[in-house]
Amino acid sequence: MNQTTKPYQLPKVAESLGRLDGAVAMVTGSGRGLGRMIAETLMAMGANMVLHDISEGAPAQYGEAESLTAVSEQLSVGGARAIAVTGDISQEQQVEAMVRLAQDQLGPISILVNCAGGDIGAQGQKPNPNGALDVSLADAAAVLQRNFMGTFLMCRAVCPGMKARKNGAVINIGSLNGHQGVSPEVIYGCAKAAVIHYTRCLALEMRPHGVRVNAVSPGPTKSARFLATRTLDDGMMKDSVSLDRYAEPMEIARVVAFLASDSSAFVSGQVLRVDGGATLFPG
Ligand SMILES: NC(=O)c1ccc[n+]([C@@H]2O[C@H](COP(=O)([O-])OP(=O)(O)OC[C@H]3O[C@@H](n4cnc5c(N)ncnc54)[C@H](O)[C@@H]3O)[C@@H](O)[C@H]2O)c1
Repeated sequence: MNQTTKPYQLPKVAESLGRLDGAVAMVTGSGRGLGRMIAETLMAMGANMVLHDISEGAPAQYGEAESLTAVSEQLSVGGARAIAVTGDISQEQQVEAMVRLAQDQLGPISILVNCAGGDIGAQGQKPNPNGALDVSLADAAAVLQRNFMGTFLMCRAVCPGMKARKNGAVINIGSLNGHQGVSPEVIYGCAKAAVIHYTRCLALEMRPHGVRVNAVSPGPTKSARFLATRTLDDGMMKDSVSLDRYAEPMEIARVVAFLASDSSAFVSGQVLRVDGGATLFPG
């Protein structure tokens, strides 16, 4: 390290949330965006971390880091260790290989955060058109694969070990689009609704085994991809007392940390909409 470069600081997390020392966490899509902030937060609480992304270069796409390896080197600052694995979460064999590699290196995964996903179509961009009737089959399949099938395959690879050890917490990242009718981003909304319902079904199956499964549905949140890929509403960018604004990634990460920690030891099968009260319907 250059003499003048300050060591990287992990975010500050309230002591009251508890510690995750000795836990092994895997956060999918943690090379950048919300996933990275979640990974940093769990590491600040003491967890060893399996960082993941679809490729080494994914963190560079919106200028957040040079590579996934660079992220893992940057975050290995405290006592906790970070390793990096790459692969497509929608591909069964790649998922199994990543989970095997991660557990060989760090030990059994006790916290799984399924954050990888997004409204990204077959060509790597937002589907266009993106409505209920005009979205292409290729884009619809790609969006379902990277959001719902990816979450399902990751849970299928990791949860049997948690069940056998009678210990584990899974947090799936949904979206407000999965709770209410939307247009455009229709298939994305359907995929996130499937993630949310899968969360409840898996929670039921894991209940006798002491494994908790919950979901967090963020409202619009200032990740680098979010800021780069849409027309922003200046009024929503404000940093103010009002909750009528975009979320900061840390405001989502703290809730994931709560659901990963013993502070939520008797919470399972729940979906928390973290949107500053933008949606106030029940359920
Ligand atoms: N930012 C928001 O406003 C917002 C709101 C609601 C939900 N979300 C959800 O939060 C999560 C993170 O979003 P973000 O805003 O940080 O975006 P992002 O694009 O920066 O993060 C998504 C990550 O998932 C990875 N990924 C995508 N498809 C993958 C695949 N098939 N295999 C492996 N990795 C894959 C990407 O490379 C990236 O690292 C996503 O699931 C998104 O749907 C975001």
